[in-house]
Amino acid sequence: MKDTVSPSYDLNTHSYDVVVVGAGGAGLRATLGMAEQGLKTACITKVFPTRSHTVAAQGGIAASLSNMGPDHWHWHMYDTVKGSDWLGDTDAMEYLAREAPKAVYELEHYGVPFSRTEDGKIYQRPFGGHTTQFGEGPPVQRTCAAADRTGHAMLHTLYGQSLKNNAEFYIEYFATDLLMNDEGQCVGVVAWKLDDGTMHVFRAKMVVLATGGYGRAYFSATSAHTCTGDGGGMVARQGLPLQDMEFVQFHPTGIFGAGCLITEGARGEGGYLTNSEGERFMERYAPTYKDLASRDVVSRCMTIEIREGRGVGPNKDHIHLHLNHLPKETLDLRLPGISESARIFAGVDLTREPIPVLPTVHYNMGGIPTNYWGEVLNPTASDPDRIVPGLMAVGEAGCASVHGANRLGSNSLIDLVVFGRAAAIRAGTIVDPDGAVPDVPRASLDHAISRFDDIRHASGNISTAELRLEMQRTMQADAAVFRTDKTLAEGVEKMRGVASKMDDIKVTDRSMIWNSDLMETLELTNLMPNAMATIVSAEARKESRGAHAHEDYPDRDDVEWRKHSLATVDGEKVDLSYRPVHLNPLMGHNEGGIDLERIKPKARVY
Ligand code: FUM
Repeated sequence: MKDTVSPSYDLNTHSYDVVVVGAGGAGLRATLGMAEQGLKTACITKVFPTRSHTVAAQGGIAASLSNMGPDHWHWHMYDTVKGSDWLGDTDAMEYLAREAPKAVYELEHYGVPFSRTEDGKIYQRPFGGHTTQFGEGPPVQRTCAAADRTGHAMLHTLYGQSLKNNAEFYIEYFATDLLMNDEGQCVGVVAWKLDDGTMHVFRAKMVVLATGGYGRAYFSATSAHTCTGDGGGMVARQGLPLQDMEFVQFHPTGIFGAGCLITEGARGEGGYLTNSEGERFMERYAPTYKDLASRDVVSRCMTIEIREGRGVGPNKDHIHLHLNHLPKETLDLRLPGISESARIFAGVDLTREPIPVLPTVHYNMGGIPTNYWGEVLNPTASDPDRIVPGLMAVGEAGCASVHGANRLGSNSLIDLVVFGRAAAIRAGTIVDPDGAVPDVPRASLDHAISRFDDIRHASGNISTAELRLEMQRTMQADAAVFRTDKTLAEGVEKMRGVASKMDDIKVTDRSMIWNSDLMETLELTNLMPNAMATIVSAEARKESRGAHAHEDYPDRDDVEWRKHSLATVDGEKVDLSYRPVHLNPLMGHNEGGIDLERIKPKARVY
């Protein structure tokens, strides 16, 4: 169906039960689950599905399968609670750990080519922060791996299965805005087709945002250039809040200079870090789990070593990761991808030399607030779990909140499939395939098209690339591994200035076909509210918790600060409020659930 709106664009209209935006692991798992149930499902993606950022996930996916020694979902849940520094929602963390084995076996049956043990079971490796006996036993081998290309294997399988189940893909379509009605219900999205310049309206009974993180708000990130927080941007423009945005994960081992990921699986397979004195310094900071302490801890220790003058290299500004003691067969079998990355991006033969590494932005714990079914929340003081009808968010775009203040490695891939699957299960109960697709109000559509047109014709004085760089440098410097009142206050001030320059942006290419200038500008309109929410939420949080290491408030403060931040962003203005952490599990101890005594807050040591 065609329609013309003012400013004058022909619109192609499509109607679906469900529209999923994004085709990474979470988007594809949601798409597959929706389509399997017979819901008419479209997946819109700005890149080809198998090129989504999940393709870069290396080390694996956590699930307590017990293939390589004893494990239990209670232990996985405990590690996740402790990893989150007691900020995660208990119901969501229980759901993740309990459903993880089922979700991984489903992947296996769909065809993911996992690496195998001698007796044919899924191979599992150790990863940081994953332990036995509620943190009192040795590290556990819980991370299921397909060599060091696990995300790649998952994406190919999930895409194939989605096609088999008749999901419809709209590839190289960029979703620009949500469409909402006056009741606050989401009724669709607007998208721009990049290769022919046509504009599209996708009407839907349910929209699922699976748009990934916003790592590109920072200067150095393991995230793909496509990780521009598009879902968060769309949600913020509707006046809806973003949750826990101050918690930004730095992965300990980005390749120095290039930022590319060297999987934590490298340390899981026996790799270790050294400083300029050749010392395995993690033994000093985390005597029990050493290099396999959780990521925030390892990143901070590396940063301290560098700050105290024990970094390696001519400028003493990075750290060495050793794998050169491992047998070549192990490297070839278990870590072929990073062997190649080290050679290409660091010029290192890792059978002979250490890899130069540095903590690098890797993951956003915060995002669009949801319950553990993926339903988006618009909390009020009297109803902190109020649902936005017609809208879900899953994967890194969402905040269930399962990772709290710090995510454990390999809990991301499992989050994608557990909550992608949960969203599909929930949609199966609330989306009526025989019901009418809700109408799209004209005002909402006009607003979305006018915004697109305004940006397309923006004729200010600053280029997108210049402004993006200003934002990235500010975030890198002032919302870093360690933060202080001073750096955060300066960062907020600078970011307000940066965000205000959006009104002076210049787009030089006005065409509609393969216009990367326009595309990057639209992406910048998404990155900016994510960045603003991050730095303002960080400045406000007067404690240290997980990835938020505040030097003026070095301790965690559970009395004042065990609560989720909510940031509502409008340009350079950010309003903050808070909602309580969910403390109750889904399942009582007498029904097989975890003993709540086990997960009471305590000091977080590894
Ligand atoms: O280190 C890695 O392989 C990354 C895994 C993750 O972020 O979960």
